[in-house]
Amino acid sequence: MRNNIGVLMKTIVLYYSRSRKTALVAETLAEELSADIMEIKDVKNRSGLLNYVNASMDAIRENKTQISPENVDLSNYGLVYIGSPTWAGKPAPAMITLIDQCDLMGKDVILFSTMGSQGGNSVIKRMKEKVEARGARVVNYLIIKTGNQEMVEIRENTRKKIQENDLKIFGI
Ligand SMILES: Cc1cc2nc3c(=O)[nH]c(=O)nc-3n(C[C@H](O)[C@H](O)[C@H](O)COP(=O)(O)O)c2cc1C
Repeated sequence: MRNNIGVLMKTIVLYYSRSRKTALVAETLAEELSADIMEIKDVKNRSGLLNYVNASMDAIRENKTQISPENVDLSNYGLVYIGSPTWAGKPAPAMITLIDQCDLMGKDVILFSTMGSQGGNSVIKRMKEKVEARGARVVNYLIIKTGNQEMVEIRENTRKKIQENDLKIFGI
């Protein structure tokens, strides 16, 4: 994809992952699509049972969190993948925070969510509303179920979704 002065625009995969499943999906996407990749970290400790409850509350309330990096310069990118795990049917606070801190004006976006069993659709719906409000256009999305799945199966399912959705044609 070229911008209006003919400069080649690249693809980047942005994701947050607490337990590496969304990370695996993101890495598979980046490998298969020859895209750049950047992990967004949540500075808040999200491990352990108590933090699980707090994480769900933060997600439900859409509480912002401190992330690293705080924002991403997307000026060289035409297509941006944005991925989040499902937390209580909502995107993880790190990705909600990122979307609000990035300049997405004029970008094509492909959203992806992972979920144990359900709620991935509502994550996509909410991220779609958020990125569209910031001037981006959602051109596709994918949802990957990770409950009871080995890492090799998650990777294989991601590859299947890339094929089914013809993701290689986007961003060219
Ligand atoms: C705080 C929290 C809330 C979650 N809520 C849901 C949920 O509502 N629905 C669901 O199917 N999975 C839920 N899960 C499971 C994750 O969405 C799923 O395991 C995801 O693939 C994890 O991605 P990650 O390894 O990249 O962090 C939740 C996990 C956490 C930590």
